[in-house]
Amino acid sequence: MKKIPFHNREKELNEVMKILEAEPSLITFIYGPINSGKTTMISHLIEQLPEDYAPFYVNLRGRFITDYEDFLNVLFEIDEEGGVDNVTEYARSILKDLGAVSGIPIPIKLFEQIFEKKDKSKDVFKYIERFLVEISKKRTPIIIIDELQVVGDIKINGLLMYKLFNFFIRLTKELHLCHIFAVSSDSLFIENVYSEAMLEGRCRYLLVDDFDRETTSAFLKKHGFTDDENAIAWEYCGGKPVYLLELINYENREEKLKEMFTFRTGEIETRLKLVKELGDEIIIGGRRCDVHYGKLVDALKMFVSRDEIGMNEVDEVSKRYLVKENILFVDSLTKMMKPQSRLNLLAIRDVLKDI
Ligand SMILES: Nc1ncnc2c1ncn2[C@@H]1O[C@H](COP(=O)(O)OP(=O)(O)OP(=O)(O)O)[C@@H](O)[C@H]1O
Ligand SMILES: [Mg+2]
Repeated sequence: MKKIPFHNREKELNEVMKILEAEPSLITFIYGPINSGKTTMISHLIEQLPEDYAPFYVNLRGRFITDYEDFLNVLFEIDEEGGVDNVTEYARSILKDLGAVSGIPIPIKLFEQIFEKKDKSKDVFKYIERFLVEISKKRTPIIIIDELQVVGDIKINGLLMYKLFNFFIRLTKELHLCHIFAVSSDSLFIENVYSEAMLEGRCRYLLVDDFDRETTSAFLKKHGFTDDENAIAWEYCGGKPVYLLELINYENREEKLKEMFTFRTGEIETRLKLVKELGDEIIIGGRRCDVHYGKLVDALKMFVSRDEIGMNEVDEVSKRYLVKENILFVDSLTKMMKPQSRLNLLAIRDVLKDI
C-alpha cells in the first residue's frame, strides 16, 4: 500500500503556531469528530517544530490504564540509562539531544523513588514542574495529551481530572512555563472536564474538523481523481480523511463508496434494532438512564432535512447515547450537533426512510 503524505492543515496549524508564539497562558483543547485527523496533525506539527520548542507527547490510546497510578505512570518515559537522581541535573543533561519523546523523561531511579510513595501525585507533579523549569531555560516546553477520553471510561479517582487540570493551570496561567494541549474527539467528555476542573477562563478550544470541500478536492486531485470521482467522493464521504484514504487505495472507487455506505447503514440499523428489541442504558453522572427507541428515532429524524441541529433539540439521554455510539458529534463551542461524517448523515437518512 502506498504511503499518503500529509495534506494541508494550514489554517489549523497557523492557529497552533500563533498559540505557541505567545507566552503560555491557557490550556488548549483540540477537538473534532472521530478520525478527522487530530493525531496526524499533531504528529506533523511535532516533526516540523523549530528547535526552540521541546514537545512531550503522550498518547493514551492503547495504554493500559486502570487506575490513577497507571495514569500517572503513562505520563512518563522511563530512562533506563539515566543514573542521575537530581531533576535539574537530569533535565540539563537530556536537553542536549532531546529526540522524539513519548512522555516526560525520568531516570529510572527517580521514577522508582516517586512510585514507592503513598501520595504519588504530589511528587509526580513536583518532578514535572522542576523538570519543565529547567527545560524552559533553553526551550519552550509543550505537553500534548492525546486521546484524553480514554481515562473517562475508567473508574479513576474522581479527583483525577481536577488535580491534573489544576496542575495544568499552574503550568500555564500561573507560571507561564509550558504550553498544554489536550486532544480528544469526545466533546462531551471535554465538557465534563471543563466543569469538574473549573476551567472557565482558563482554556481555549481549537476545532480540527474533516477537510472542507476545497481541501478535499485538492487532496483527491493530487492522487489522480477525475472530477466525477471527486464529486461522488465528496457526496458520500465529505472530507473525512480516513475514508478518502480508503478510496485512494481502491481502483473501483464507486463500488468502494457503495460498500462503505451499505456497511455503515447496516451498523446503524443494527444498533437501533438492538435498542428496540433489548433496550439499552447509559450512565450519566453516576445514574443509570434508559435509552428509548422512539426518542432515538425522533432525534435522528431531525437529520432527514437538516445537516446539523442545535445540541439541545434532542433529549439528553438520546444525545449522549448517539454520541457515545459515534453516530453524532457535538460541537460544544457552537452548541451544534451533526453526524460524525457525511457518510453517517447519508446512512441515517437511509435507515430512517424505512422506519
Ligand atoms: N492531513 C492529513 N493528510 C493525510 N492523511 C491524513 C491527514 N489527516 C488524517 N489523515 C489520515 O486519516 C487517518 C485518521 O486520522 P487520525 O488518526 O489523525 O484522526 P483522529 O482525529 O486523531 O482520530 P480519533 O478521533 O480516532 O483520535 C490517519 O490514519 C491518516 O492517515
Ligand atoms: Mg487521534
